[in-house]
Amino acid sequence: MKRHAPAPERNREPLLAVLREVMPASGTVLEVASGTGQHAVFFARAFPGLLWQPTDVDPESLESIAAWRAEEGPPNLLPPLPLDASTGTWPVTSADVILNVNMIHISPWASCQGLMRGAGRVLSPGGLLVMYGPYFVEGRETAPSNLAFDASLRARNEAWGVRELGAVTAEAERHGLRRERVVDMPSNNLTVVFRKPPDAGPTG
Ligand SMILES: C[S@@+](CC[C@H](N)C(=O)[O-])C[C@H]1O[C@@H](n2cnc3c(N)ncnc32)[C@H](O)[C@@H]1O
Repeated sequence: MKRHAPAPERNREPLLAVLREVMPASGTVLEVASGTGQHAVFFARAFPGLLWQPTDVDPESLESIAAWRAEEGPPNLLPPLPLDASTGTWPVTSADVILNVNMIHISPWASCQGLMRGAGRVLSPGGLLVMYGPYFVEGRETAPSNLAFDASLRARNEAWGVRELGAVTAEAERHGLRRERVVDMPSNNLTVVFRKPPDAGPTG
């Protein structure tokens, strides 16, 4: 069944503006943690030259993505696949871009570690990992809304919580990625763009 969430409705246009600046003209996008599928339909339509592969760990999300795709998916939107970012067995072995929106704070840290390991493994040389969400940034005053959000996440699950940008970046670097851009987004979120260097081979 098609599910609707308010966040992807709110953030899709600001995110699209950043994606328009960084996306290649052609290639494959692996979306990790597609959620309802609203982003997948919207972004696949916005980038008809890209093949869009939605995924999620949650079976109900996979059903919702499939339902969105059946109703209004453009031809470049592929059927959703189950993918747990924290594991080393992804159903996709190559991608030019990985998009991950609002996942790492609402999942154990192992999911962020797995995401970086997977990005190092599957991204093509020069490929991008684009992440969106709330972060704590060293040396920057934290917005009260992000402190409250962090507390509410930890109350729901002690393994969840807003992540430190520095820790996320260190994890990305461990797998051969370089942080290329950090863009301030509405509501104290960030878009963070990592790149696998063009001369890089696969990493573990
Ligand atoms: C807040 S929702 C965001 C969904 C979507 N990206 C969006 O912006 O609307 C978080 C999503 O992360 C997924 N998720 C959590 N842990 C995951 C993991 N280890 N691997 C893949 N997806 C995961 C959840 O199933 C959920 O769909």
